[in-house]
Amino acid sequence: MNHRPCFSAVRDIALGCVIVFASQALAAEPAPATTPEVEKRVESLLSQLTLDEELSLLYGDGNMGTHAVDRLKIPAIKFSDASVGVRCWGPSTAYPATVALAATWDAELSGAMGVALGRDARARGVHVLLGPGMNIARQPQGGRNFEYLGEDPYLASVMAVGFVKGVQSQGVAACIKHFIGNEQEEGRNSWSSDIDPRTLHEIYLPPFKACVQQGGAWTLMNAYNKLNGVYCSENALILNQILKTEWGFNGMVMSDWGSTHSLIGCMNGGLDLEMPKDDVYKTVEIKSLLASGEIQKATIDEHVRRLLRVMVAMKFLDRPQQDDSIPKVDLASAAVAYKVAAEGTVLLKNAGHILPLDTARIHKILVIGPHAVKAVTGGEGSSYTKSNVPSVSVAAAVAAVGGKGVTVETVPWEGMTLSGAKSVYEAIDGQVGLKATYFDNKYLRGEPVLTRQDAQVDFNWKSGTPAAEVKGKSFSVRWEGKIKAPKTGDYLFAINSDDGGRVFVDGKEVLNTWWDHETVRRTTRVSLAADAVHDLRVEYFNSGGLAEVQFGWEAAKPLISDELAAKLTDADAVIACVGYSPSEGYEGEGSDRTWLLPPGQDAFLKAVVAANAKTIVVLNAGGSVDMRSWLDHAAALVHAWYPGENGNTAVADILFGKRNPSGKLPTTFEKRWEDAAAFGNFPGRDQHVTFAEGLFVGYRWFDQKKIEPAFPFGFGLSYTTFTISRAETKREGGKATVSFDVTNTGAVAGATVAQVYVRPAPAPVERPDHELKGFARVELAAGETRRVSVGLDATSLAYFEVGSNSWKTPAGRYQVAIGLSSREIEQTVDLDWK
Ligand code: BGC
Repeated sequence: MNHRPCFSAVRDIALGCVIVFASQALAAEPAPATTPEVEKRVESLLSQLTLDEELSLLYGDGNMGTHAVDRLKIPAIKFSDASVGVRCWGPSTAYPATVALAATWDAELSGAMGVALGRDARARGVHVLLGPGMNIARQPQGGRNFEYLGEDPYLASVMAVGFVKGVQSQGVAACIKHFIGNEQEEGRNSWSSDIDPRTLHEIYLPPFKACVQQGGAWTLMNAYNKLNGVYCSENALILNQILKTEWGFNGMVMSDWGSTHSLIGCMNGGLDLEMPKDDVYKTVEIKSLLASGEIQKATIDEHVRRLLRVMVAMKFLDRPQQDDSIPKVDLASAAVAYKVAAEGTVLLKNAGHILPLDTARIHKILVIGPHAVKAVTGGEGSSYTKSNVPSVSVAAAVAAVGGKGVTVETVPWEGMTLSGAKSVYEAIDGQVGLKATYFDNKYLRGEPVLTRQDAQVDFNWKSGTPAAEVKGKSFSVRWEGKIKAPKTGDYLFAINSDDGGRVFVDGKEVLNTWWDHETVRRTTRVSLAADAVHDLRVEYFNSGGLAEVQFGWEAAKPLISDELAAKLTDADAVIACVGYSPSEGYEGEGSDRTWLLPPGQDAFLKAVVAANAKTIVVLNAGGSVDMRSWLDHAAALVHAWYPGENGNTAVADILFGKRNPSGKLPTTFEKRWEDAAAFGNFPGRDQHVTFAEGLFVGYRWFDQKKIEPAFPFGFGLSYTTFTISRAETKREGGKATVSFDVTNTGAVAGATVAQVYVRPAPAPVERPDHELKGFARVELAAGETRRVSVGLDATSLAYFEVGSNSWKTPAGRYQVAIGLSSREIEQTVDLDWK
């Protein structure tokens, strides 16, 4: 194993101090890159390639790789997703969600996770790991927030740099993604993220810049969406100018899968490699554009040069990528996965110190809810990793960690099975089922090509079409009919589709996933009165690729059954496990999620916390959810994100006090969605998402608007308490050092994160009240004090001046605020900058 240190954090326990030069992660330095030897070899290879060979290197093999040029011993490059596991080549270690990694605030651990993923990749012969993702958590509904590193560009940068260095230290290229403005899933294939230049430079670009300049990332993936009206795959401003010219990126830009729209645009806009295949980089067409002079040969050479440079610099030409000395089921990787879950789980509420559970008093524990016996390890989509070992559920982990003195009981969760085949439709004109109208386009437009009666909506056409009459891969269907509720009450309606689906009851839309996506399931509750007949309309479209749709409706079962009610009163403590998972409510790629927990869960929690005051809620989600109806009455709240294959053991270790929680929120949790920065500008309209809040994302917004969040950025409880004291700043040349004491004032050992925020000096532009510019995770024994130093420099104080396209650090008096969260500032010291 070739494990180099990934981050310049120096822990000198012997001297009793922690020194973290965190700001170095963002200092402007030339991109670490290439050497004369590498360049020489690249040029030699390039000069030997024929035009056809060069063109074959510009697009993927239709799947997860590039083409080989056997004649010159240029291998095919093997890719794999991604940030939480090497998922594309068989089962692998399933790590916690990347947002859980961000919640550790542990840059060394981020490096260790990168190393572990790099090893997993080498064990499978993977050359390029398609991660980490580093888009910003702009709003809690973002379907892929769990794959990213939170709302703050500085935290995301530091964690991403460690990750990239870790992966690459193992001889695997990292791929930073999605560049840029892919902060939501809705409309991701065609909408424009409209972001002003200063916000782009101060909030959205920094993690990418840091990974290029400090992490030495070798590859980058463009986003699907447009940025300010231009598709990111052909956006010369961000690819050619900012990334390659201003930042000095020497590596290779690849497209997100199927994100290309124009040959000339991509070729001249800076896209080096089209994935997964030649949708636009078609050899014949490129040749004709070369002939007409619309594409230059030098541009093609430059794209190929970049791919070759990655291969030569990473030594892909010099050794087999598969390293069989690394086990496929690697205990070292599992240990890292556990550690990330243990450090990243955030304890948000602990009323009356119910946690850690005292097994002298608590014997009978009821573990319930949709995620009690089902191990939910990751969010959905292209990052989802099938674990190579059995995953651990919360109920199983609580039983194992609780040991002999504890009895764990569960009551099955009554969700909806979505059996389209069982749904009942009223017979109209003697016709049972639904009237189906099929169109040969995705818009339900024009003359239908087929009408028939379908008994159910329960189809999986895979890559085929519904019938011979439907010729194209792009088609749409409308089903119409009637339903009758046998009893007055709540009914569940669910649709599962790839691509868009929507459902109307009595003309009112109750479900909508009307955009291009992979399989997405949505469920909702509708109250229906007995015996009334209701109009039902289900609509579906496929825009190409795989096609499936299932619709079902059924009576909702009571949320609290008699059995559960009895057990709730009887239990010494209740662990209610809720959140997003495919059968409940999807959180993942291709669609944004609801802020309210999936159907039924909110009402379920409300009833559970009312029935037993000793309820601990364990939540699986990539960020905040609406907690208003149950939080005040829950005894404790543990945010477990998606904890990976063995992360529920870490959760149970925290519940029983075998581990002291130390995770801190990497996003602000709002009390009401209306309080959030993106409210009113999410998901956007007319195919545009205006990032109207500008710089004021996350805590910056809550500070500016003076809104009290439910839980602030940086917040997380421990079983002990900490203080920060004796802060001072020292200036030396272009650097400043902030030093302070961190003390564990409680009775047990624990870790916290000292967070260093900078309040700006007067500036000609509006600036956020304070911004994170350094941090240090500190582990302390009970009663222990340690002196911590955090390095700052001009970049820590700077803002981006649009007119001059440069960073400015005005002279003046800054303040350094050191705290245990963005709202728990313990010390403030002046920092004069001349
Ligand atoms: C995702 C990427 C992923 C790629 C390859 C795309 O749909 O957006 O993040 O790396 O697929 O699976």
